[in-house]
Amino acid sequence: MKILLVGSGGREHALALGIHADKFCTELHVAPGNPGISQFATCHDLDIKNNQAITDLAKTLGVEFVVIGPEVPLVNGAADSLRAAGIKVFGPSKAAAQLEGSKNFAKEVMHDAGVPTAKSFTVGPVQIEIERALDTFGAPYVVKDDGLAAGKGVVVTSDRVEAIAHAMQCERVVIEEYLAGPEISLFGISDGRNIIPMQPAQDFKRAYDGDAGPNTGGMGAYSPLPWAPNDLEDEVYTQVLAPMIAEMAARGTPFVGLLYAGLALTDTGLKVIEFNARFGDPETQVLIPRLQTPLASLLYKAATDDLDDVALQWRDGAAVTVVLAAPGYPADPQSGGELSALPTVADTQIFHAGTKKSEGKLLSNGGRVLTVTGTGSDLTEARNQAYRAISQIKLTDSFYRTDIALNASVAEKGN
Ligand code: AMP
Ligand code: GLY
Repeated sequence: MKILLVGSGGREHALALGIHADKFCTELHVAPGNPGISQFATCHDLDIKNNQAITDLAKTLGVEFVVIGPEVPLVNGAADSLRAAGIKVFGPSKAAAQLEGSKNFAKEVMHDAGVPTAKSFTVGPVQIEIERALDTFGAPYVVKDDGLAAGKGVVVTSDRVEAIAHAMQCERVVIEEYLAGPEISLFGISDGRNIIPMQPAQDFKRAYDGDAGPNTGGMGAYSPLPWAPNDLEDEVYTQVLAPMIAEMAARGTPFVGLLYAGLALTDTGLKVIEFNARFGDPETQVLIPRLQTPLASLLYKAATDDLDDVALQWRDGAAVTVVLAAPGYPADPQSGGELSALPTVADTQIFHAGTKKSEGKLLSNGGRVLTVTGTGSDLTEARNQAYRAISQIKLTDSFYRTDIALNASVAEKGN
């Protein structure tokens, strides 16, 4: 089958490799893609904010199936536009993508579905209401812009003045109780009726070692989690994924695609921190290299209401990914730096996230430049491979965290 994948990041590079490796895919097109993806698939220019342009490209190429990577086209309704043109799509409708597009909507659905999450208030930019909500929960304060904010919408702070200032900048804001406990990401693949959990992963949101520095889109990730309870997937399925899918179907807006649950494992059980309507980045870069189930046919089955008999197969071992970030990331990333030749290291994959080719040179082109995944029989081996590779890549003033999966790799030794 001829397939079009929409997106250009490290997540899409990993998805593209997985789709390309499945014989079900006879021809892979990616738009806009990136220099890493263009080594094995055909890339096309595309404004992913333009639904008509996406649909026109799919029709011109004659593809039967489209996989949408990023949230922006999903929240804009690109999947609806493609479906209206008779094309199969992996990715939720505009109505279902509201689980990511509006934090307040996600809270309403969780409430109706009985899914555990932080207590919250939704308020407008009215200072007295904001202060009342903040004081109900006390510090640390959690203030979330209701809408999509490219990773900048959430402020967690003990500074009340900062919390109020952030809330006053938003049109609508969700203020919620602080959840203490380790955070994990667990993704489910859904056809609108069934949802199949993937293995859990953990990502590292802060920019610097020791979880210091500003929040980012994610500086690294690993999977599986040797410290997590064995029944974690079952629990998340029963308490979160299945009720959400049932509630969305009951509302007449079934969720078809990837439901990303960001969870806190608190003393009083697991609680949802957020939903996304797409694969996570960089978690995808550790999940896809370990997923044995052929990816293209899996996503097609989800898109065609056909997941009844599917169970996922995983390779043994572990994967660790480390993000190479541009100088200035996340506040003010500098693009255009020249990358040294990318090394070939056994058991590693280098995913392009923000790169471009210019006059034969590979240049940085975004905040997260590369994601380097190592695989191995355990996290220690996987980390070693990832760090062996990333340490050989030169980009002036770039940086990466040196502690991705470090604690977990120590913990696995105790098992
Ligand atoms: P989000 O953009 O929703 O992923 O939030 C960014 C980060 O803020 C999360 O990964 C958490 O680390 C943190 N966060 C969000 N909500 C809460 C909460 N209720 N309690 C504690 N931390 C939170
Ligand atoms: N890794 C966080 C995200 O994809 O939103």
